[in-house]
Amino acid sequence: MIGNATIRKATLGRWMQLGAVTARLPDSSRQDVPQVTTLSVVTLAFAMLASPLPASGEEDGKLMFNNACRTCHSTDAGDNRLGPNLHAIVGRKAAAAEGYAYSSALSRSDFTWTAEKLDAFIANPNAVVPGNNMKPYAGIQDAEQRRKIIDHLRASDGN
Ligand code: HEC
Repeated sequence: MIGNATIRKATLGRWMQLGAVTARLPDSSRQDVPQVTTLSVVTLAFAMLASPLPASGEEDGKLMFNNACRTCHSTDAGDNRLGPNLHAIVGRKAAAAEGYAYSSALSRSDFTWTAEKLDAFIANPNAVVPGNNMKPYAGIQDAEQRRKIIDHLRASDGN
């Protein structure tokens, strides 16, 4: 059994060793030590600044779309990427983006995208269109996140 005191002593010992090593380093590398410390403090400060502030729903939705969908989708008309463009997708027929080579599964499907269909698809694409080609995509389990993404898609109808 190693008691807490022993561990604390061992840790302290290691720190002291480290200190001794640092002290023994030649002048040039010893100067590097405080620099590294300053850098991590600055990095930490930036990380704290960059942490998300409470945003409005639409900003949330845009951010979530950017994180979860934008690698493969644009909402600009005609801008097909790895996935078809999602311009005015709410109310658009499935597999209707011009110039995009859909999977046969999605091409064969015959429905119009509603908020409900999108919600189900974003949660689990295969449950709505079995054999579709939207991969790799894990599905979004959080209903609130899905709602915000769909609201964002609604707002991105090209106005
Ligand atoms: C890894 C790339 C990728 C990601 C990430 C991705 N998709 Fe897709 N998506 C695709 C591909 C590829 C297709 C075409 C599927 C097919 O042809 O079967 C597609 C198809 C779709 C369609 C059908 C469009 C139509 O014209 O019928 C919708 C809607 C859609 N994606 C929404 C989303 C949303 C919303 C997200 C983010 C929550 C997302 N996708 C994330 C690649 C992706």
